[in-house]
Amino acid sequence: MKVGILTGGGDCPGLNSVIRAVVRKGIEHYKYEMIGIRNGWKGLLEMNYGPLDLRSVSGILPRGGTILGTSRTNPAKIDKGFEKAKDNFIKMGLGALIAIGGEDTLGVANKLTSMNVNIIGVPKTIDNDLSATDFTFGFDTAVNIVMEALDRLHTTAESHDRVMVCEVMGRHAGWIATYGGIAGGGDVILIPEEKFDIEEVCENIKKRHARGKNFSIVVAAEGAQPKDAGDFFTASKELDSFGHVKLGGIGEALAKEIEKRTGFETRATVLGHIQRGGSPTAFDRVLGTRFGIAAIDQVKKGDFGKMVALQGNKIVVVPLEQAVAKLKTVDKDIYDIAKVFFG
Ligand code: F6P
Repeated sequence: MKVGILTGGGDCPGLNSVIRAVVRKGIEHYKYEMIGIRNGWKGLLEMNYGPLDLRSVSGILPRGGTILGTSRTNPAKIDKGFEKAKDNFIKMGLGALIAIGGEDTLGVANKLTSMNVNIIGVPKTIDNDLSATDFTFGFDTAVNIVMEALDRLHTTAESHDRVMVCEVMGRHAGWIATYGGIAGGGDVILIPEEKFDIEEVCENIKKRHARGKNFSIVVAAEGAQPKDAGDFFTASKELDSFGHVKLGGIGEALAKEIEKRTGFETRATVLGHIQRGGSPTAFDRVLGTRFGIAAIDQVKKGDFGKMVALQGNKIVVVPLEQAVAKLKTVDKDIYDIAKVFFG
C-alpha cells in the first residue's frame, strides 16, 4: 500500500521524529511504499510529492523544522479545495494519509474523513492547545527555550534594576507562558484565558520592589489581553488563511505602560520564532517517535478518522472530531500554581 505523510501549519520541533518513525516502521515492518507530500495541504492540492525511503529519513531525528516543508494553506479557502484534495489522494494511488498538524491541519483532516478519505492525524503544536491529548510534541522544547530566556533575562534585569517583559507564543492558549513562566520564575504571567488588569500587574511589581527586589520578570503570552484596552494596545487586523489574527506587540505595549505607571525602567523581549526553531528536547523526540509508531500501526489496523494522543503515559487513539471540537485552554489548577509566585 502507498501511504502519504504531510506536515501542516507552523513548524514545530519533533516533526522529523514523527516522520522518521512512520517511514522506518512503514517500510521495514509493514513493507508500505511511503510518499512525502510537500508543504502541507498545498502539496496535496498541487500534487507536489515524492518518495520517502530509509535514506531520506536518516539523520533527521535531532533536526528542527520539517523535511517535508509546511504551509498554512486551507483547502476551504480554495474553490472546490476539498474535492480536489480527495481527487488527488485517489490519483496518487494513496491507501492512507498521515496528517501531522494542529487544530487547523487536523480540522481539514476531519473534513476529508467525512468524505471517506483514509486519514490518521498526529497532534503537533508548540502551543499545546489541542484537545484529547495531554501534550503535543514541540511544547516541551518551546517551554525549555522560554525557561532559558527567562534565566538569562533574570541576570541582566538584576544588574540594571529593570523590569523585563518577555513576550512568548500562544495566541488563544497560554500553556507556553504558564509552564515557561513557572519554570523560569516569572513574577507575573499573563495568558489569553484571563484578561489582565494593568493596574494589578503594576501593583504586583511595586509590591515586589517594596520587599527589596530591584527587578521583575513579566511573562506575557502574545494573545494576552487587558481587561480595559484603553489606548495602549491594539492587535493587528491582518488574518491568515485559517482566520487567525497576526499577533505581536503586547510585550512592547506592556513595557511602556509598566514604565509609565511604576516609574521602573522596563524593557521588552519578544522570543517569537526562536521558540519554534532548532533541535527538539529528548521528551519531544520520544513523544514524536511514539506518535509516529502509533500512527503507522493505526494505518495497518485500517481504523481511520482517528488521531493518536497521549493520555497519562499511554498512547491512545481518539476520533479526529473530538480532537478539533474545541481548543484546550490552560487548566485553572496550573495557573493558580503560577499565581502563588506573582509579586
Ligand atoms: O501555532 C503555532 C504558532 O507558533 C503560534 O504560537 C503563533 O501565534 C503562530 O504559530 C505564529 O504563526 P506564524 O509562524 O505564521 O507567524
